[in-house]
Amino acid sequence: MNTTIDIKITQTSTSKLSTTDFDNLQFGQTISDHMFIADFKDGEWTDFRVEPYAPLMLNPANATLHYGQSVFEGMKAYKSKAGETLIFRADANQKRLNNSAKRLCIPEVPEDLFMEGLKKLLEIDNEWIPNRAGYSLYIRPFVFATDDYLGIRPSNKYKFIIFTCPVGHYYAKPVTVKVETAYSRACEGGTGFAKAAGNYAGSLYPASLVQKQGYDQLLWTDSKSHQNIEESGTMNIMFVINDTLFTAPLTTSTILAGITRDSVLTLAREMGMNVEERFVTVTELEDALHSGQLKEAFGTGTAATIAHISLINVNEEDYHLPEKPKDSFSYKILEELDAIKYGKKEDTHGWIMKLQ
Ligand code: COI
Repeated sequence: MNTTIDIKITQTSTSKLSTTDFDNLQFGQTISDHMFIADFKDGEWTDFRVEPYAPLMLNPANATLHYGQSVFEGMKAYKSKAGETLIFRADANQKRLNNSAKRLCIPEVPEDLFMEGLKKLLEIDNEWIPNRAGYSLYIRPFVFATDDYLGIRPSNKYKFIIFTCPVGHYYAKPVTVKVETAYSRACEGGTGFAKAAGNYAGSLYPASLVQKQGYDQLLWTDSKSHQNIEESGTMNIMFVINDTLFTAPLTTSTILAGITRDSVLTLAREMGMNVEERFVTVTELEDALHSGQLKEAFGTGTAATIAHISLINVNEEDYHLPEKPKDSFSYKILEELDAIKYGKKEDTHGWIMKLQ
């Protein structure tokens, strides 16, 4: 798209900023004042605007409500000590949104529309970016179908929206997980690699079953053999077995190409860690837990950041993992990533977009 991005601005007259308790932020519950919106109709994106965050008008026949043609992203902006706004790997999120969109027959969002909309929104809602360690502004870009039509075909109309939420930690404490060997999240040829709304809907029921048993999340296995560990519902999953870091590869169509996943792998290789992108089997995991060779397990994700796993249930047996000591790999990698995200360390990877 080479046309000028002309964004119409309507500012709120009732900001929630002064009544928001930034000391008690629950993930996703506090939404900032404004949102960016663009409409897709007649084959192009039009009508770019920033408006007060408010309910949308949708007809009951809206295609997304019935057939789930919707994809989204999760990304974060941080405040440096000097007060600059730093957005982490926005280009990677823009590309992944379009990979997901393609799979769902949703039109791509051009890079300049994504970036200009994002920058304008963050300029207007700049004061919503928390300026304390461990806090950030979670950014939720998403695209969904808006045709009012009950036949099955891709919609002709869509909305692209970005809104934001100031957040602290997604998981307040270490996470407990159970290996799932009955239900499936994704299959070869399916939509598992995409950040599609329906992937999350389908995982709610199996997750609710393990939550009733006292676990926070499940560890998905492949849909055919239920032997290969794939990912968790809210994050990619990594294991340190002996001195090697393992995570599922992106060679199947079942794994979300996590941007935190990629950042961790990049930093791990630079730190001299052995890295293997291959499936760890349930049997291998069980053996490593039994023998004590499993040193660490953690999730990686934009919302979850680096989420330490304190307990894994495999084949109905609970295995407790050690506390996360300061010399653990996951602790060091969290420190390193945070240093880059908050601008305390030089960004040698081109991961940070700084807003003036
Ligand atoms: C993210 O990490 O951005 C996600 O979309 C995961 C979701 C659990 C909030």
